[in-house]
Amino acid sequence: MDRIRIVGGQRLNGAIPILGAKNATLPLMIAGLLTEDTLILDNVPRLADVNQLQRILGNHGVDIMIAGKRPGEEPNHGSTLHISAKTIVDTTAPYDLVSRMRASFWVVAPLVARMGGAKVSLPGGCAIGTRPVDLLIMALEKLGAGIEIESGYVIARAPKGLRGGEIVFPKVTVGGTHTALMAASLARGTTVIENAAREPEIGDVADCLNKMGANISGAGTSRIVVEGVARLNGARHSVLPDRIETGTYAIAVAMTGGDVVLQHARPELLQAALDVLAQTGAAVTPTNEGIRITRNGASLDPVEVTTAPFPGFPTDLQAQLMALMTRARGTSHITEAIFENRFMHVQELVRLGARIKLDGDTATIEGVSRLKGAPVMATDLRASVSLVIAALAAEGETTVNRVYHLDRGFERLEEKLGACGAAIQRISD
Ligand code: UD1
Repeated sequence: MDRIRIVGGQRLNGAIPILGAKNATLPLMIAGLLTEDTLILDNVPRLADVNQLQRILGNHGVDIMIAGKRPGEEPNHGSTLHISAKTIVDTTAPYDLVSRMRASFWVVAPLVARMGGAKVSLPGGCAIGTRPVDLLIMALEKLGAGIEIESGYVIARAPKGLRGGEIVFPKVTVGGTHTALMAASLARGTTVIENAAREPEIGDVADCLNKMGANISGAGTSRIVVEGVARLNGARHSVLPDRIETGTYAIAVAMTGGDVVLQHARPELLQAALDVLAQTGAAVTPTNEGIRITRNGASLDPVEVTTAPFPGFPTDLQAQLMALMTRARGTSHITEAIFENRFMHVQELVRLGARIKLDGDTATIEGVSRLKGAPVMATDLRASVSLVIAALAAEGETTVNRVYHLDRGFERLEEKLGACGAAIQRISD
């Protein structure tokens, strides 16, 4: 198992290219199941989760071709996927595949919409608390699917096709909204989705579906209207930049000090997080190239932050912000309002010398003047990158174990940070 070794204390200077968003790429790949034609996705990040989803879709009979580099192409471009679900050979998604990546449960929507039936394993446990799928199932039922749960599998049936309906989510859910959008695109009649997630990745998927011939309006707002169509066609779509990768590197620069341009990043995708960073004392400047983050010497100010659905502060940046606040001058409070039990990074940050107290869903972080390197363990994707951020500012050497969590969501992290001056190295056993 790979580890990452970091010697803290180097400032970050230079440029970091931001690639396509993982959380848009996964549903976009799944949307490829909706059509017999080829869907071409550009700016796809090279991530373990993308490879895993490729295997899952392959099991349904989907051919995915990853185009090689073309002459003159920038090394920092994402890859291009050609996704062809001409013939679906199997509508079952088995436990051993779905349990490895929660988002793969979302295949249930296109499969039942196009094939009239699907059998998809419940995703099972997850390191960041119970993450149920009741609202995804509710959405499919509202569109006329019959649902049974049998031996850990969700069996969805709509032999005569789905029909439009009204879906009112009692709570904002990204996965629920993706599921509803994909299913409604091929349903007969009109679907209205109320209290829809407004995350930019929802808008990106809706844009792609519209290019495929869907008729979706209101994506990006909390009320989405979908006029179903009989079939969808192929299209070409470039994945929007990853706001979580952007925010992660922005926080890393705030932590170490320095001056870095996050190329291709779009500030409007993470304004709430950039506002918090500005409050801590980092300078955030939108440029033609992307976003420039600088911090010179000045100490970090503490903040009070509660995670919220978009446009609020994203839960996927909570662990990284907490790492930053371990070095603030004063006491910060961070409340996690989306997921229960998304605090596994706390104990590991404490191993590096952080002072953090947990009380229910709120962490109180008392800034310390120094962190000290230690061996730590990555527990989930975002938690593990928070340990990297802390290690960049810790004295001495930190080894982050179980790096496969990082590889799920960050492409060439050690190369990108290394190019900006970090002393960071991957060790493969
Ligand atoms: C997506 C993101 C993840 C992010 C999360 C919240 C992807 C691949 N993943 O996950 O990175 O952290 O949004 O922004 O895009 N819930 C229910 N019942 C359901 C579904 C969800 O109660 O059927 C609850 C969850 O437990 C959670 C909240 O709703 O408390 C939000 O979850 P949701 O937005 O669905 O997260 P994901 O789509 O799984």
